[in-house]
Amino acid sequence: MPVNIRGRSFLTLLDYTPAEIRYLLDLSKEFKRMKRNGVPHRYLENKNIVLLFEKTSTRTRCSFEVAGNDLGMGVTYLDPGSSQMGKKESIADTARVLGRMFDGIEYRGFEQKTVEELAKYSGIPVWNGLTDQFHPTQMLSDLLTIEEKFGHLQGIRFTYMGDARNNMGNSLMIACAKMGLHFTACAPKELFPAPELVEKAKAIAAENHGSIRLTEDISEGTKDADVIYTDIWVSMGEPEAVWEERIKLLRPYQVNAAAMKNASPTAIFMHCLPSFHDTKTTIGAEIAEKFGIAEMEVTDEVFESPQSVVFDEAENRMHTIKAVIYATLC
Ligand code: CP
Ligand code: NVA
Repeated sequence: MPVNIRGRSFLTLLDYTPAEIRYLLDLSKEFKRMKRNGVPHRYLENKNIVLLFEKTSTRTRCSFEVAGNDLGMGVTYLDPGSSQMGKKESIADTARVLGRMFDGIEYRGFEQKTVEELAKYSGIPVWNGLTDQFHPTQMLSDLLTIEEKFGHLQGIRFTYMGDARNNMGNSLMIACAKMGLHFTACAPKELFPAPELVEKAKAIAAENHGSIRLTEDISEGTKDADVIYTDIWVSMGEPEAVWEERIKLLRPYQVNAAAMKNASPTAIFMHCLPSFHDTKTTIGAEIAEKFGIAEMEVTDEVFESPQSVVFDEAENRMHTIKAVIYATLC
């Protein structure tokens, strides 16, 4: 059956079938080929999109801006302090105003219900550029990167180490379940994903010949993995006070040479970025001084190793976001 997602919002991969995700990945490859070969693709001239960011961003913002420009569209960026949304104007009112002016809305912020409300009231496609619960555009980039490296997705042994109940842990579990990968969350049990979401993921995985496993055991969790993935230990929006406890909980789950050695010999290392793998950032330096830890979720050695594909992943954000914009607005 042909896939058509025109007019749809992209809020979480839970709303998308494996066939629709496959379509977006194939379209991303086509856009990547065109970009690399300098083939113009201004398919959406005369359309306009708005990017609403209530949290900071490098990759997501730049991907939406470059993708929008490459597609020939007008792109408006609203930063955390420069719109009325939430302060003087409700989400529903903001959505109805933006829906009269634009063809699509990207939103990065806190609650998933905000992006759902924007979609409900604006009447135009809304793309989730990260909430506390999900980060679906990152998922397409990660799946594309894995497929580029291994030639397939089905059956890949995927291990996520770290805060498995944050937006990345939740989203990766669902993405793997949809595309038939074997997902392992390797984390302290305090940071396991919510049981309801795990049950949902297990049911989806069963339909797609994948599996879901949660383990605290590092040796078991990383054994023979094809992909070792991690994310920062404290996410945007969390209070600074959680650092101490998070470091205590997650220090054993750092991706280091031992973890990579226990994985498959052809394993790759992935990270959505930004990453604290050294002390060359303000926060990295502060944490090093306060807690005596110079590398956090991943060692510099692994981050800089040939197994690390993090910058391919970052580039693929742009190609995959372009595919989502095009497929929902064309
Ligand atoms: N991975 C990611 O979403 O990066 P930014 O926070 O820089 O957008
Ligand atoms: N979990 C991280 C992801 C950043 C892309 C955060 O929300 O800050």
